Amino acid sequence: MPGTTPRRKVTLITGASSGIGAELARVFAAKGHDLVLVARNRDRLEALADEIAVPDRPRPLLLAIDLLAPSAGPEIVEALDAEGASVEILVNNAGFGLIGDTAELPLSEQLALIDINDRMLVETTLRLLPQIREAKGKILNLASIGAYCPGGPGMAVYYASKAFVLSFSLSLGHELRSQGVGVTVLCPGVTRTGFQERAGFTEATGLMRSKGPSARQVAEEAYAGLMAGKREIVPGIFNKILVFALPFLPKSMILSLLYGAQQTRRESP
Ligand SMILES: NC(=O)c1ccc[n+]([C@@H]2O[C@H](COP(=O)([O-])OP(=O)(O)OC[C@H]3O[C@@H](n4cnc5c(N)ncnc54)[C@H](OP(=O)(O)O)[C@@H]3O)[C@@H](O)[C@H]2O)c1
Repeated sequence: MPGTTPRRKVTLITGASSGIGAELARVFAAKGHDLVLVARNRDRLEALADEIAVPDRPRPLLLAIDLLAPSAGPEIVEALDAEGASVEILVNNAGFGLIGDTAELPLSEQLALIDINDRMLVETTLRLLPQIREAKGKILNLASIGAYCPGGPGMAVYYASKAFVLSFSLSLGHELRSQGVGVTVLCPGVTRTGFQERAGFTEATGLMRSKGPSARQVAEEAYAGLMAGKREIVPGIFNKILVFALPFLPKSMILSLLYGAQQTRRESP
């Protein structure tokens, strides 16, 4: 509209208070992006904003929001409007996992997992898509290497939630290709963050001491891939080989190996 001030273009990252999301915030900030950081823990968001704020640039806008609240989507849009900000890059990173047999895990937690990993990812994407489309911007969605597996017994709902993210991201990217919007799906393997504790992994397992890429390395590879317009990013050479090999392996073997691994993760002292 003539006479209206152009809105400030921002990168919005959900789940920015720890782990991969916090590292993504550091990488985007170092590359000069104006940030909007979303998570529940305001203190951790404030500490991160203090760390990455640069003189003469706007301090990151912090939205201490529970993404499981029904009001979360509209609240994000309202906060952006109030700030005169418009999302150019959206990073749907917030999420968590749960380890255990699905028949034994609490129903409410498993539904919350789907709500945050899938429902909220779709809602945030669709609410912000008009802004992203106008900016010919980009979307980065957090799936997992588990999305390529035929299933994930011992973390069944989590694996299924990430298969959803992979499928949704590839489809959305295809639909938006002609409109200048890039969609990239990031599929990390085990990465040491707050994820393992939240999911219920025990401290002693080898998988907790993963030698794979660090959260920082994942974030750096993700940023480079997103900017290069990649469709899928699997950080780390071992994980890339694994994803290449998975379709050639018998499904029953993969399911048994994964179930064994999850049991080790839960049962180690
Ligand atoms: N670490 C891994 O091994 C791994 C592997 C593959 C994929 N991933 C995916 O990577 C993403 C980031 O996980 P991470 O490893 O960095 O774990 P993390 O350190 O536990 O970080 C999770 C982030 O999500 C936020 N979050 C969780 N529930 C929320 C809610 N209800 N409302 C708002 N924010 C919420 C947390 O912030 P608050 O607690 O402050 O709300 C936190 O910032 C997830 O989608 C995860 O599934 C992780």
